[in-house]
Amino acid sequence: MGQAAGSAHLERSVVEGEEVYILGSGGLAREMAQLITVLHPWVTCRLVDRSYEPSIPDGAEGVLGIGSPPARLKAYDRLRSRMRFPVLVHPRADVGSDTRCGIGAIVTSGVVITTNVRLGEACLLNLNSTVGHDAQIGRGTVVNPGAAISGGVLVGEGVLIGTGARILENVRIGDGAVVGAGAVVLEDVPAGRVVVGVPAKVMLP
Ligand SMILES: CC(C)(COP(=O)(O)OP(=O)(O)OC[C@H]1O[C@@H](n2cnc3c(N)ncnc32)[C@H](O)[C@@H]1OP(=O)(O)O)[C@@H](O)C(=O)NCCC(=O)NCCS
Repeated sequence: MGQAAGSAHLERSVVEGEEVYILGSGGLAREMAQLITVLHPWVTCRLVDRSYEPSIPDGAEGVLGIGSPPARLKAYDRLRSRMRFPVLVHPRADVGSDTRCGIGAIVTSGVVITTNVRLGEACLLNLNSTVGHDAQIGRGTVVNPGAAISGGVLVGEGVLIGTGARILENVRIGDGAVVGAGAVVLEDVPAGRVVVGVPAKVMLP
């Protein structure tokens, strides 16, 4: 898999006995610890909340265990100058050879990525989600389990795609938008809006 210049890769950077700091302490953080254990059984994972951040040594390896895209981006931006964020790809993910991948992107078990896909920094593709040809996933965006992103879809930064959602081809999802679980998105979603339903409609505040 291709990577953005300068991105770290856990395979090369973690040594036996090293600690990896999982940022977050909820269920997703434990899932990230499990992913690291699959990739590197000799590494020690420490789940830490924000109050512990000042104690994390400079240059340490970090993995975002935060499921809310705004909080995920904030943590990444706070810490990226002094921590290393590896790209993690589960061995049971199927990733096209020409996928380009930003620092800290995470691809979990069962994910399928086809061809010419770009993954932004610190994004998360969760279990069994799919990403079709020429799609782009923005920085800090979270794609929840089972979501299907069709060919040519452009997903902005800090977007949440709910579990099982379907985004049809060439649709654009604006920065900070939320696509509800199970939604079928036929049209572009403006930045910051929440859409739900089949077909997806903007949810009024
Ligand atoms: C869309 C979403 C963000 C809305 O959350 P919220 O603002 O807290 O909304 P509420 O739960 O207060 O629901 C508000 C209304 O929207 C409806 N609604 C909420 N989510 C919906 C969805 N995914 N599809 C259809 N309707 C939905 C509710 O039934 C409720 O309708 P009502 O006003 O007629 O009673 C959230 O429901 C969602 O789908 N999040 C994705 C979660 C996910 O993927 N979880 C998996 C984690 S692994």
